[in-house]
Amino acid sequence: MLPYRELSDAAARAIDDSRASLQYGTPEYQIKESIVELMRMREVECHINEVFLTTGAQQALSLLVQLLLPSVSRSVLVEEVVYPGFRQALEPFNPRLVPVRTDFVHGLDIEAADWAIRQSRPKPTLFYTTCVGHNPLSLTMSAGAHNGLMELLCRHRITVIEDDVYGLLQYENRAVPPLRALSKDGVVYVGSFSKILAPSLRVGWIVAPPKYIAALSALKEGSDINTATLSQRIIASYIERHSLSSRLNILRDNYRVRRDTMHRELLCELDGIAQWQKPTAGFFMWLHGVGLGDTTKLLSTAMKRRVDFVPGTAFSVARSQRYRSTMRISFSHCPAEAMREAVVRLAASIRDHQPRRAA
Ligand SMILES: Cc1ncc(COP(=O)(O)O)c(C=O)c1O
Repeated sequence: MLPYRELSDAAARAIDDSRASLQYGTPEYQIKESIVELMRMREVECHINEVFLTTGAQQALSLLVQLLLPSVSRSVLVEEVVYPGFRQALEPFNPRLVPVRTDFVHGLDIEAADWAIRQSRPKPTLFYTTCVGHNPLSLTMSAGAHNGLMELLCRHRITVIEDDVYGLLQYENRAVPPLRALSKDGVVYVGSFSKILAPSLRVGWIVAPPKYIAALSALKEGSDINTATLSQRIIASYIERHSLSSRLNILRDNYRVRRDTMHRELLCELDGIAQWQKPTAGFFMWLHGVGLGDTTKLLSTAMKRRVDFVPGTAFSVARSQRYRSTMRISFSHCPAEAMREAVVRLAASIRDHQPRRAA
């Protein structure tokens, strides 16, 4: 799904058109303008001076943790299962993590979050979430739940790092806007070109209140000086000739087919053995059920059959046994024609594994 030919042409033009592509450089204005446009598609009105370019969403998370985690009393509210890259960004600061129970069907439990915040000493001041196309749970919270969550976080004065890297990849008619659409000051937004153009470009962005931008610039310069000029020029050159909106439509149409095919094949092969939700956004499905056995052990059996997944415990903040029989599988990587074979191999691996479990 990566636009190989278009990016290859864009790269050639970027180098041919200007030797400055090979130099250190400042953020490209055109890219920021396109980001303002992408944010508008997400129902967020923002100004170009609130947009900050980063080396992928991952660097955005890392810089925001450095910026927003207080030097004392570090305490961060997270869901029980979380994108491991965020945990890695937190690790150097060793904060206290306040995990909140997340339901596999309904997502984050707002009452449980309220209780966890009240119990926690010190009180968390920061919360990280992916409300749309959650990685790994693949859930999208409803707009109504967004309101309840935002009300809770404002009441407790907790700043949100909202990771919306899958927000532009929603597959049903009505896209759910991000939390940032509800609060300008309480939410710092993270987006990325990784999922909509190519991850190797390593270009992402933050939308933050202007008061944060100077401090982010200082942190970023200390980290990697500037977001790779060549990548920026390739994106700028791509945008000059191609519409991002058409590209998004192509991605959504193709990923929707992959998602539907995977769902159908799972129903054929794993109905009664595992449960899952058909996701409305993102790249993943989250399988759970005792029939899966211990998925960490299952992985080596599956890899012998050349099918891959991530065991659910890899995402658990507390490495809880609750996730022993869970896994994240991805529909984004596998063409629809190969999906049947992938699911058949996964189901066969689960069957292979069962006698040994019984023994
Ligand atoms: C939820 C989430 N956030 C951030 C990232 C990192 O994205 P990037 O490639 O832009 O650094 C990923 C990548 O898989 C992701 O799934």
